[in-house]
Amino acid sequence: MPEIVSQTGRLRELLQTPRAAGASIGFVPTMGALHAGHARLLEVARRQNQFLAASIFVNPLQFDRPEDLDTYPRTWEQDLRLCRDCGVDLIFAPTPELLYPRQQLTFVESPSLAAHLCGRFRPGHFRGVATVVLKLLNLVQPNRAYFGRKDAQQLAIIRRMALDLDLPVEIVPVPTVREPDGLALSSRNLRLTPPQRVLAPLLYRSLRAAAEAIDAGETSVPVIRQRALAVLSPCPAESVEYFEIVDPETLVPLDRVAAPVLIAAALWLGATRLIDNLSWPATSD
Ligand code: PAJ
Repeated sequence: MPEIVSQTGRLRELLQTPRAAGASIGFVPTMGALHAGHARLLEVARRQNQFLAASIFVNPLQFDRPEDLDTYPRTWEQDLRLCRDCGVDLIFAPTPELLYPRQQLTFVESPSLAAHLCGRFRPGHFRGVATVVLKLLNLVQPNRAYFGRKDAQQLAIIRRMALDLDLPVEIVPVPTVREPDGLALSSRNLRLTPPQRVLAPLLYRSLRAAAEAIDAGETSVPVIRQRALAVLSPCPAESVEYFEIVDPETLVPLDRVAAPVLIAAALWLGATRLIDNLSWPATSD
């Protein structure tokens, strides 16, 4: 069974043993409600490191809508089993009071990266993500930390934070795990009604349509976008929050495809917001 720890002092203490033994430490931060997407991160990290730590913490700082924080799924017993099955050695699961023992007055911001894609619609979200990830990295001090490509903007922001702030950690991206019909795994998928679940895979199909248009030689983003949006036409009007083709590092929207790009979209189905993305050309990792 993994060791479970909620106090930051105790966490540092427990990590002294593997560190002193020269073991490489892999770290997978999560908010719980674990599924096969998280399991993939844990499996990759397990293979690459001698010691595997995970965190389960629903971070209040990154919720731009309070109702989202209140309704975020909490599945502790199931999460424990998944961590055990994936060979996790240590789970850090603090309470908000333990991780934020005083008013937080210092934050990590990447304004230009947060200005695009999801960040446009979720003020303060990525500041909350970057701040908690830096805190967690400082507490665990892993050799490698693992993040899913599913959250491409989050990954871009954390990679850039690690570079810009010289963090002594390797940020390892992990490919998106999907349902057989292409829908990216997410704890939010459980909230979809049966008719919404039927529409949900169109998000991935629309990204594929964009990638196929580029494969076929189309370089005009408005034309590519139009083809992709046609795939989403069965979804209710106004359900597409954004569909963008951006520079994979700066996340700046492009008019023309001339180099590798990130194709990213967000779709509302009822009260559920789904996001997904594809790299073009496809990345093997
Ligand atoms: P959470 O949504 O729990 O996701 C934890 C990690 O799992 C993230 O790196 C995310 O990209 C990855 N992940 C989720 N679904 C995936 C899928 N279908 N395929 C591959 N990877 C997937 O992201 C967060 O938590 C938080 O913002 C966090 C980084 C923990 C900071 O609070």
